[in-house]
Amino acid sequence: MTQQKYYLQCLGCGHKTPDFGRWFEQNQICTDCGSKHSEVWYNTDYQDLPRIMKNNLKSFWKYLPYLPLIDSSNIISCVEGGVPVQQWGYLEEYAKRQYNLTIQVQVYRNDLNGGTGTFKDVAASLAASIFKEHGIKQYCVASTGNTATSYATYLSIAGINCSVFLPKNALKASEAFVSAYGQQVFRLKEDYTKSKVLATEYATTHNILISSGNIDPIRIEAKKTMVFEWLRQLGKMPDVYIQAVSGGTGPIAIDKGVREIQSVYPGLKNPRFILIQPDKCDPMVQAWEKAVKEDFPLNYENDYPIIDNPKTVIPILANGHPATYPLISKLVKESNGSFIRINEAKIADYARLIAYESKVLLGPASAVCISGFFESLRKGQIKNGETVLLNMGEGINRSPDFVNEMIYTSNIVDHVDQCKPHSMDYYRNQLWEAIEK
Ligand SMILES: Cc1ncc(COP(=O)(O)O)c(C=O)c1O
Ligand SMILES: [Zn+2]
Repeated sequence: MTQQKYYLQCLGCGHKTPDFGRWFEQNQICTDCGSKHSEVWYNTDYQDLPRIMKNNLKSFWKYLPYLPLIDSSNIISCVEGGVPVQQWGYLEEYAKRQYNLTIQVQVYRNDLNGGTGTFKDVAASLAASIFKEHGIKQYCVASTGNTATSYATYLSIAGINCSVFLPKNALKASEAFVSAYGQQVFRLKEDYTKSKVLATEYATTHNILISSGNIDPIRIEAKKTMVFEWLRQLGKMPDVYIQAVSGGTGPIAIDKGVREIQSVYPGLKNPRFILIQPDKCDPMVQAWEKAVKEDFPLNYENDYPIIDNPKTVIPILANGHPATYPLISKLVKESNGSFIRINEAKIADYARLIAYESKVLLGPASAVCISGFFESLRKGQIKNGETVLLNMGEGINRSPDFVNEMIYTSNIVDHVDQCKPHSMDYYRNQLWEAIEK
């Protein structure tokens, strides 16, 4: 008997696929129109959601009634997704001091996810669980690093083989984590775009399931629970959402989550999406700036550059071919948001400041997000009275080399006369000056 909990529905033609078993059999495309983009919908009225939110399980699995898994014994979890949203008052004070804005700054601490400390962990947890439920034994994924690490971890726990295609510039640490769990790494001599091509060919050659990218309904279903978590922890949706973007699963998933629960939360709407890219790999920002300049001509969403082998020092964000831009740019436009570029040569300044003020060590992609908050203020894109949510994507453990950037208080000494007590305030001022100049 087929299950009645959920179904997938094609965004192109409305065709329904009964479950993930069939979805995988039909190669993750709609059998009617060939579209890759289907969404999961549930046969429920969501009346229980407010009560389920109160459940104190520290994982997104509390939302199982709204996730496409039937048997809870298939759950593969490292306690992810129930991470805290924290108010960082010193960022609010800065906005007041520098721009006379009274705002709330909330930070979603994905570095505290139990799997690998990134916002990829919820997707990997749901994926591993669904694969277990459907008897999948082989999987493959192309990734700039964090998705690979997370999928390799969770699929290893589930006993599922996972082949990972990493671009030339991916961090050694990403490769090491995948390898350590006995999963296979294919390291390319080229960029992420080429890694995706090769992974697709590999999947076809060996008839292996492949991650279908940023619109993958599994990733979307996992990440939509961010909306539930913010409602639970903040009691409302933030007005502004800031994230370092590469493919853009975040905004797509938030949009899905908001549409899904509108019957129980009437009037709920997307935050203003402010998406950040480093200046050395900023195809979406370039496309957006052109569209703004030309006042959004017809088909603006299909007009974007492709950057071959991007030279960014943040490999996690090195996606030079933003295939999802057509989808994401529309969401950003509808929300009155924007794409913003930051100077990647300065991200360590932001990471040092956050380490000092919050005692939290950021990974480089998270430093891009924080830097984007400051840049949004400079560009006048945050308004008085707003609640801004920073979706912090990773902690320092994802990029051990970046930790060296945190060294700035050392003195080379050979005599005790050179060693004097210090006041931390000195460093604090120095860190803020680096940001404000
Ligand atoms: C920490 C971090 N921030 C941002 C991103 C970009 O996310 P997305 O590809 O969903 O836009 C990633 C993904 O690679 C990431 O791992
Ligand atoms: Zn279709």
